[in-house]
Amino acid sequence: MACGGARRRKPPLPLLSIRGKTMNHAVHFELKDRDFRRISELAYSVCRINLHQGKKELVRSRLAKRMRALHIASFGEYIERVESDGAELTRMIDALSTNLTTFFREPRHFDFLVENVFPALRDNPAARSRFWCAGCSSGEEPYSLAMLLNEHLDAAGGRDIKILATDISTRMLDIARSGAYPETRFQNMDPLLKSKYFDRADDGGEPVRVAGPLLRQLIKFRYLNLMEPWPMKRNFDVIFCRNVMIYFDKPTQEALVRRFHEKLNPGGYLFIGHSESLIGVKHDFEFVQSSVYRRGGRAQ
Ligand SMILES: C[S@@+](CC[C@H](N)C(=O)[O-])C[C@H]1O[C@@H](n2cnc3c(N)ncnc32)[C@H](O)[C@@H]1O
Repeated sequence: MACGGARRRKPPLPLLSIRGKTMNHAVHFELKDRDFRRISELAYSVCRINLHQGKKELVRSRLAKRMRALHIASFGEYIERVESDGAELTRMIDALSTNLTTFFREPRHFDFLVENVFPALRDNPAARSRFWCAGCSSGEEPYSLAMLLNEHLDAAGGRDIKILATDISTRMLDIARSGAYPETRFQNMDPLLKSKYFDRADDGGEPVRVAGPLLRQLIKFRYLNLMEPWPMKRNFDVIFCRNVMIYFDKPTQEALVRRFHEKLNPGGYLFIGHSESLIGVKHDFEFVQSSVYRRGGRAQ
């Protein structure tokens, strides 16, 4: 039997239904320049995320996932949806922002706190201390801070210490509030801290640990777009805004840094990401060391 000319048939790819039609799961949505510009404008106007041409493929692939989930067939249609639906606009911003974080990320900052900031707080047990993690993503940063506050300042022992942890991503805030992380997220953390502050919560699937009460009682998670008015009435002693400003242009960084300065108590500290810097940004902070800045004046 002659079979040399028969073509091998590929197995069918999974199909998604789009408005009654079917659509190949691997479909490639084309992102026209005009649509990319509109998406960039929207992202900039909402949260000042700066999506330059080099981010086009990233935008395409991240939003394509969302479009498949919504059974939307083109970027033009997706933009119409985003423009008429505030919840989808939030989802779009969520999909476009980068949420990478880890426990004790950039550990030099945590060493700095222990060596230079906590001693002053320890000397004044009656004082209230307020920390703000602005752009906290899925919560590892404020939980790291809360562990150190417990370890070094006995934060649970009647001191008035609180951490406000905010982000624009409701999806990340849900994870942060749940306080539940797979075991693999703790790889680089001291195992003693892990077992002291995170309880096992295995349900037969992937091993998971959940933040315990010593951490939870210190932290409030809230939605906050840094570009909008800030509802907090009181000032902070320490602000972490690490690996957030990197996505903003200089004028936006400058305006934000000025607002952080106003929101700190005299002598308070601003921490930015190790790869960020305030070079070229006008500001009133004292430079302490790379990525650490201090508001002048005596701490109260
Ligand atoms: C890369 S993560 C940084 C997390 C953490 N600070 C760290 O350094 O590990 C950046 C976070 O900033 C948030 N973000 C971006 N633009 C924002 C805005 N305009 N307002 C509030 N949060 C924003 C993102 O949602 C994201 O979770």
